[in-house]
Amino acid sequence: MGQKKPKGPIVFDKFYEEVYKERWPELKEAMKASKKIASLLNPYSDAETKGDKLWEGVLEGASFDKPSGDPFNYYLLDAASILSARALGATSEHKVLDMCAAPGGKSLAIQFFRKEGELVVNELSRDRRTRLRRVLDSYIPSEKQENIRVTGFDATTWCLHEKEAFDRILLDAPCSSERHLLESPDKLEDWKPGRSKRLSTLQYSLLSSALQVLRPGGRIVYSTCSISPLENDRVVEKLFKKRGDSIKLIREELPLGEETEFGSIILPDRGGWGPLYISIIEKNHGEESL
Ligand SMILES: C[S@@+](CC[C@H](N)C(=O)[O-])C[C@H]1O[C@@H](n2cnc3c(N)ncnc32)[C@H](O)[C@@H]1O
Repeated sequence: MGQKKPKGPIVFDKFYEEVYKERWPELKEAMKASKKIASLLNPYSDAETKGDKLWEGVLEGASFDKPSGDPFNYYLLDAASILSARALGATSEHKVLDMCAAPGGKSLAIQFFRKEGELVVNELSRDRRTRLRRVLDSYIPSEKQENIRVTGFDATTWCLHEKEAFDRILLDAPCSSERHLLESPDKLEDWKPGRSKRLSTLQYSLLSSALQVLRPGGRIVYSTCSISPLENDRVVEKLFKKRGDSIKLIREELPLGEETEFGSIILPDRGGWGPLYISIIEKNHGEESL
């Protein structure tokens, strides 16, 4: 009989202590605190909003108790999530793919910032896709949805059907989501270090698929809400090891967060936003299909 793999909150603590050292206790407390929120303003809505401006189109906190109007006037999310959509730098000329899109906060951010343009929002889970459609319908008028398509593919195999088709791809990958884990003692009881490793395999396969689906000269934003380097820098590093001759890393200064080897990470012990990891990758011009 094989030995039982160690699991549970103590193993979890040890794993992240090794990464974050003396910073870990404070970071862990910040991850357990209630989430900070921002209001992403809906440019298609006339309903009133109020509050302190964080950035263009974004207010700090909840604008009112509840979104109102038809379509709704604002969407609540973590300000760090808005930055990953913004890092795409998508204009109305770009054909954009949001590969793992539900519930849809970042899809809204992409469209709100540019107002027009072709967008494909993909989500594998049927239930989550239903939620995604509901979000789109509540925030984007039907006449503005003509260029928006909802799909339900397994994005790891998208590259088998379509190559070099999009100018911008947001890959907000499924991840360990430690903030949620810390909120659910049952899940934490079951946590094993192998979980992050397994997710990193899925994340790499999504990222390498995205690269094939991207047009030369196009941009991928890879993001996760994980604080595990295995799911962040190590995934991007693997892409650079395998495809480094056809891609380049884009360094853009973000209004939040700290630089990592291949991107930036926004951690809640410094300002309350996040966690969110963001890496910006561009495909060189003149690359043959990978
Ligand atoms: C981090 S969540 C996305 C959050 C979303 N971007 C937002 O801001 O609202 C990752 C999503 O990827 C979906 N997913 C997981 N594996 C997938 C796959 N192979 N292909 C497409 N979507 C996948 C999950 O169901 C989940 O909804």
